[in-house]
Amino acid sequence: MAEKAKFATKIGLVAATVGSAIGLGNVWRFPSETQGNGGAAFLIVYLLCVLILGIPVMLAEFAIGRSGQSDAVGNFKSLTPDKKWWMAGAIGLLASYLILSYYMVVAGWTLDYVFTSLTGSLYEGYETAANTSQYFGDKMNALVTSWHTPILWTFITLGINFVVLLMGVQKGIEKLSNVLMPVLFLLLVIFAVKSLTLPDAMRGVEFFLKPDFSKIDINVIISALGQAFFSLSLGMGILITYSAYYPKDTRLTRTAVQVSMLDFFVAFLMGLIIFPALCSFNMGDTASVQGTTLVFVTMPEIFANMAGTAVWSVLFFLLLSIAAITSTISLGEVAVSFVSQRMKMSRLWACVVVMAPLAVLSPICSLSLGAEPQLSIAGMSVFDFLDTFATNIMLPVCAFLICVYVAWVLPKKFIEAELTNNGENRTKTLPVTMFSIRYICPVLIALILIVKLIDILG
Ligand code: PFF
Repeated sequence: MAEKAKFATKIGLVAATVGSAIGLGNVWRFPSETQGNGGAAFLIVYLLCVLILGIPVMLAEFAIGRSGQSDAVGNFKSLTPDKKWWMAGAIGLLASYLILSYYMVVAGWTLDYVFTSLTGSLYEGYETAANTSQYFGDKMNALVTSWHTPILWTFITLGINFVVLLMGVQKGIEKLSNVLMPVLFLLLVIFAVKSLTLPDAMRGVEFFLKPDFSKIDINVIISALGQAFFSLSLGMGILITYSAYYPKDTRLTRTAVQVSMLDFFVAFLMGLIIFPALCSFNMGDTASVQGTTLVFVTMPEIFANMAGTAVWSVLFFLLLSIAAITSTISLGEVAVSFVSQRMKMSRLWACVVVMAPLAVLSPICSLSLGAEPQLSIAGMSVFDFLDTFATNIMLPVCAFLICVYVAWVLPKKFIEAELTNNGENRTKTLPVTMFSIRYICPVLIALILIVKLIDILG
């Protein structure tokens, strides 16, 4: 059998893992969660959730992947061959594939916005529009519900994924991340400086950074836990798959802290970009920062009011495309690594087998938003159904099983040996991490799951 692929450098492995974590979760989910949950208070609770839940679950996944040296399912098989725990990996694998089918479509929308910002057609005629929110809202709706344009962009995104995944772990994923991650951070810093120097920016900074602790309640905590989950790509096989490419001497704790903190930093910078800009243009109370509306309606509205509209718009949607595409690649790698290793296929065939069904599934997701009569499951568009089911149910179930597996099924010494590289790199945080994986994480994840289930069924 060919030797297992590995990331070539430490920076490369961190860049690739951060590239997977940083995605639409940081750019549009975080600001909307922050706004809906009381601003700075949410930020603090979120940071605590990253530390208490995010890093330990990430470490549990790293330990499984690096020791198993296989794919999301195969790792469980190599660690516990005669048990059925591989099903935990299978849930993650399926979740990541379902998520990928609609994430491709959204990544396609971001590319369309880069293109229409470049050509100027995004801003054509907004000056004469009576209501600019309506103008950009209509533009977004026209794109999302069109039957051809988003599908064209989805195919372009699929093509990019195919090429990068085909090039493999080092030459594809690692090289691309090494180039795109610095570009993404540079763009974020440029936007943060611009936003913070706008007139009246400090009102937005205050909302984002001055905590009102009376705002913290159980809903804020549940939202912050969910956000940490989503943003760090937990419970979906990505971290297990990527860590199987980590060299044996990688310090897992250090890597998990670096990845989580960089991911948090990006969310933090997004807050510093969005809230001051909203306040500066007096949109703080009126503009929606709900997910798609924030990035595709509110942000173009802000750019339209700024000098250099086209430049800011192109740069912003470029930033968004980078965040989205590096995430789609990691979602795709979960399936490619599974197919190539379980079914013993060449990487080329594995990429074909993974991407071909998406060429049907992703357009269905896209069409489900605009088709008449609507393509729906359980009263939701196919797109929304996959999002709700995979992110709210499958991810927590997978992460819960991972914690139970590492803490209670594998030998007690397993996680300790992995996290210390067989005793070579002891860290003071080891007992805390172990305690969290054994007790805190399963309870918190079960809580998220129960609340989400009540939410969906109620
Ligand atoms: N962590 C990435 C993000 O924040 O967008 C990737 C991702 C995670 C995508 C979870 C989808 C998902 F459900």
